[in-house]
Amino acid sequence: MNQDDELVALAAEARKKAHAPYSHFAVGAALLASSGRIYTGCNVENASYGLSICAERVAVFKAVSEGEREFEAIAVVTENGATPCGACRQVLMEFGDDIQVIVADATGHRRSFALTELLPEGFTSRDLL
Ligand code: THU
Repeated sequence: MNQDDELVALAAEARKKAHAPYSHFAVGAALLASSGRIYTGCNVENASYGLSICAERVAVFKAVSEGEREFEAIAVVTENGATPCGACRQVLMEFGDDIQVIVADATGHRRSFALTELLPEGFTSRDLL
């Protein structure tokens, strides 16, 4: 199994843990850090809808809270192969614009993007005076 396959498989596993009783849109993510470790996440919704968090950010925050700061790739699995929301693109870009984003649908069909394709001209620490 190559690295992309492994990330997609782990994201699909994480998706099974999604807490999405309101949207019924389950999302799983698997984030590969430069250390070689992989951190997974799923979306976690709340009855107070605005408190819900996306799978991608769960994975990033888990990783960062374990000391990671650099990432190589993230796989995201949804029913339809949707790409990460704008908030998650921005959170990923905080930790490097050279991150590969692999999205897969429930049948395993995949697409791969550079983060900069998904978030061109993104705001980073370089923009702070
Ligand atoms: N969601 C994610 O987990 N990641 C995204 O990039 C887009 C949306 C979640 C949030 C919410 O729980 C559900 O999908 C529907 O928006």
